[in-house]
Amino acid sequence: MKWKADFEDFLSGRTESEVFDKSTLMSLWKLMDKGIIELIDFPISTGKEGNVFRGKNRDGFVAVKIYRINTITFRNISKYLQYDGLVNVKKNRRSVIYAWSNKEFANLSRLHEAGVRVPEPIAIDGNVIVMEYIGTEEMPAPLLKDAEMEEPETVFDDVVKNMSLMYKRAGLVHADLSEYNILYQKEVVIIDVGQTIKAKNPMAYKFLERDAYNVAKFFGKFFEVDKDKILKQILEEKI
Ligand SMILES: Nc1ncnc2c1ncn2[C@@H]1O[C@H](COP(=O)(O)OP(=O)(O)O)[C@@H](O)[C@H]1O
Ligand SMILES: [Mg+2]
Repeated sequence: MKWKADFEDFLSGRTESEVFDKSTLMSLWKLMDKGIIELIDFPISTGKEGNVFRGKNRDGFVAVKIYRINTITFRNISKYLQYDGLVNVKKNRRSVIYAWSNKEFANLSRLHEAGVRVPEPIAIDGNVIVMEYIGTEEMPAPLLKDAEMEEPETVFDDVVKNMSLMYKRAGLVHADLSEYNILYQKEVVIIDVGQTIKAKNPMAYKFLERDAYNVAKFFGKFFEVDKDKILKQILEEKI
């Protein structure tokens, strides 16, 4: 794979990487040195703001999410960090992206501890997050939007249960929840938790409503449901 060659070139001092900047390669190197990543298998996803790869170590597969330092949509990130009172993040691009990556990693930990089904966080270095890989040997778990569901009602309840745990036990609202940020493989797994909003934030309920709206819209293809039903279910759920 291309970046592997880049990485080797970088280590040997031959060239600069075309894919990753130096600091990203250093982070990858540190994680490899610790044995947290032994090799990178293949890219799972190439997004606007970063890439997710499947990696491997002695214990099995891992997912490696790498935020791009150069092309990230900077404005969106500073907007979200402001909601969290992190306005004083240095104007320096890299430090903002590191703060963002740290926030996603901290969120994964908090959510995992609260019992929300998210990939278990494993390690972070700079803009590189290593977490539990969701999928099989053959392929990563599909997004909910592409998944085959035998009983959409059961999957729906599982989503709402996780939203509820997230709101009430972890004190967070996802704020970008939809069938694009939920994996489904027998059970649902919530991903992409960098932009969460604290439940006590005055804006939080607005975001919870929007998340509920997206979820209702998706499941509305299978049965009758609206966002108010979801909000009610979240508030009433005994956690
Ligand atoms: N832990 C994981 N295991 C398997 N696949 C994952 C995992 N995390 C992310 N992915 C895949 O990578 C894609 C992008 O990840 P995501 O965190 O949503 O980043 P973004 O949407 O910001 O690019 C997801 O749609 C999913 O297909
Ligand atoms: Mg996403």
